[in-house]
Amino acid sequence: EKTKNLKHFLTMTDLTGDDIHELIDDAILMKQQVKDGVPHPHLQGKTLGMIFEKSSTRTRVSFEVGMLQLGGHALFLSSQDIQLGRGETVSDTSQVLSRYVDGLMIRTFAHATVEEFAASSSVPVINGLTDPHHPTQVLADLMTIYETKGKLAGLKMSYIGDGNNNMTHSLLEGAALVGMDMAVSSPKGFEPDESIFQAAKAIGLETGANITFHKKPEDAVHQADVIVTDVWASMGEEDELETRKQFFKPFQINQKITEYAKNDYLFLHCLPAHRGEEVTAEIIDGKHSRVFDEAENRLHAQKALLKKLLKN
Ligand code: CP
Ligand code: NVA
Repeated sequence: EKTKNLKHFLTMTDLTGDDIHELIDDAILMKQQVKDGVPHPHLQGKTLGMIFEKSSTRTRVSFEVGMLQLGGHALFLSSQDIQLGRGETVSDTSQVLSRYVDGLMIRTFAHATVEEFAASSSVPVINGLTDPHHPTQVLADLMTIYETKGKLAGLKMSYIGDGNNNMTHSLLEGAALVGMDMAVSSPKGFEPDESIFQAAKAIGLETGANITFHKKPEDAVHQADVIVTDVWASMGEEDELETRKQFFKPFQINQKITEYAKNDYLFLHCLPAHRGEEVTAEIIDGKHSRVFDEAENRLHAQKALLKKLLKN
């Protein structure tokens, strides 16, 4: 299908491959406009409410600055401070906020919470990260790859580390949609969610993306154009970190493993990172790393998304 009628943005599969390319093109244009000092107030007078039930640096600041650059306004709503944190229901919160704002972004734990939020909302809802999905990050990741490689289809991405987290799942869906091969390698017990993995494989059959899982990280990194990793314990799993370390040690991105990739591979990480755990300082601070461009691109990729969802 060419494009989807986008009401909410909860997972990457709310978009088509063409939608993703359209958003990236618009994001690249607006990134240049910022550099050239050209205003782009496409959302004059519009307001985005942003609910956070987990910490954030990039998502919070990039959405807030993004709304300002679009001529609108964003409200940071910590669940600690709003009545949601005292037991007001998700549905009531969503219905009330919908009467004030033009769009809502929510970062939370269970994916069912954003789904319930969207079902009760009369305005577009954006998933700012749940336990199983982080789609706004993947828009920025694909934009970063496209900026450097000039294409997405036909490339190979390797994801090494915790396969059962939001980044892996959204990358699987995103890569499949744009026709990019993706090879995942994770320790036993930390493989991607089976239904998300199979759904990505099925999309890949139509777009030409080869979606695979490998026991050995070296096999997944073989001839990769892009290497991605993420923290070994995500937000909410901090108390598992010490026990996870023993399983995850062979899945670290270091100089040795990157030698299996292509010579001009890119390294991506959504941040925050833990140097010496999932990636060595040498790699994340080295010449193949694009992690700060990736963080910067959150701003522009999300402006393109906000424009698409909130305009009219
Ligand atoms: N990558 C990312 O979502 O960062 P924050 O948790 O700082 O928002
Ligand atoms: N997987 C990480 C991503 C942080 C942006 C987490 O959920 O903590």
